[in-house]
Amino acid sequence: MSDFSVRLLRSDEERAATDVFRRALHAKEMTDEEWSAIAASMQPDRGFAAFDPELIGTARSFDSEMTLPGGATTPLAAVSLVGVRADRTRRGVLTGLMRAQFEDFAARGVPAAMLHASEGAIYGRFGYGVGARAKSIEVDRHRARFRPEVPVGGQISVLGLESTIEQWPSLFDALPRTRPGMIARSPHLWPGYEREVRRATTPVSTAVHRGPDGVDGYVTYTVERARFDAPSLLKVQSFHYSGSEAFAGLWRYLLSVDLVDRITAEKRPLDEPVELLFTDPRHVTVEKLQDEGWLRLVDVATMLDARTYRGEPVVIEVTDPFLEHNSGRYRLSADGAARTTDPADLEMNVDTLSMMYLGAWRASELAVAGRVRATGETALERADLLFGTRVNPWCGTFF
Ligand SMILES: CC(C)(COP(=O)(O)OP(=O)(O)OC[C@H]1O[C@@H](n2cnc3c(N)ncnc32)[C@H](O)[C@@H]1OP(=O)(O)O)[C@@H](O)C(=O)NCCC(=O)NCCS
Repeated sequence: MSDFSVRLLRSDEERAATDVFRRALHAKEMTDEEWSAIAASMQPDRGFAAFDPELIGTARSFDSEMTLPGGATTPLAAVSLVGVRADRTRRGVLTGLMRAQFEDFAARGVPAAMLHASEGAIYGRFGYGVGARAKSIEVDRHRARFRPEVPVGGQISVLGLESTIEQWPSLFDALPRTRPGMIARSPHLWPGYEREVRRATTPVSTAVHRGPDGVDGYVTYTVERARFDAPSLLKVQSFHYSGSEAFAGLWRYLLSVDLVDRITAEKRPLDEPVELLFTDPRHVTVEKLQDEGWLRLVDVATMLDARTYRGEPVVIEVTDPFLEHNSGRYRLSADGAARTTDPADLEMNVDTLSMMYLGAWRASELAVAGRVRATGETALERADLLFGTRVNPWCGTFF
């Protein structure tokens, strides 16, 4: 292990840190113009870097909040821009950055962190687990026909690029974040999204849906068509809505866009029933199932008590090798959660607890894979009910 130190970035070091991150992701260095477009997305005092004395690695976060099962929200650190210089990997730099972040989150009273992982093998050792999963779907636009009972939807108006950029934050903020795992979008995230859509090589459009009470959904998309007579693909970039009128109305709109053969939507909630809109559900295919949000319970006691539970109590024993103070037994019941010395019904590592926490996985599934150890079947049944959520968790925001 080499000698290095980790500290908060100064504002004049932010660009160098972003370049280290970009090189680690095999992205080109930014021009002055590109940097000035996204400099505002670097929330001050949220970026860490490792120095030896050169800047050799970085990790940052954005302040956010996350919806929990039961509807409460909690402060959340949205972790992003993690990278270590290729000539300094595998000597503990990321480990040092993760430790510094967790200490910072704890000091600021932020009990949970979430990230989107470039590779699935990196973050489990730091206590992150797959807290939300997603599916990518494709719709055969020529063959899909709406079932007669599908709502007709309300009014649609279409925005171009500039109006999309201008209205995005207010459109997103106006919609309820009802699923567990959904997060608030920090103002620091929007400059990055703007940069992405400005770089798009095909026109960007947003269809806005209005119901009786005003705007209740929107979908942003691009259409790719290589030649005049080539097949074309409508790609959904973001799709947020409240209620079935907006959901159906926006899908009706997407299928009405001419000169489109296929429609794809990536990283959608697992239980979003697009195929049920159509007379033949096979005209919607699931192209990919993937992990979406990796969740870390930084303060296990606070997070366990912040969500709601149903059914009979369960005692869980949590092992947290990276943040030892979290290790211990917790009694969970419809009345809340608290530390206990009672014998444990279930044992698990803290990353596995994250997989159950928002409802992405059931205790009984995790037990089949050996990730949860139970004293008996009834403990698993109780835990399945206790942690069960009405809808699947989904983060819905890339950062
Ligand atoms: C992923 C990355 C940040 C890891 O940094 P690092 O400084 O090498 O990590 P560490 O040395 O602290 O590794 C800690 C442990 O994780 C393991 N590990 C790190 N990266 C891993 C990976 N990509 N796959 C599997 N294991 C990994 C190390 O082998 C080490 O294991 P050990 O404790 O058993 O020896 C770095 O490789 C990188 O920048 N990759 C490219 C960019 C990227 O993917 N960033 C993440 C964006 S979400």
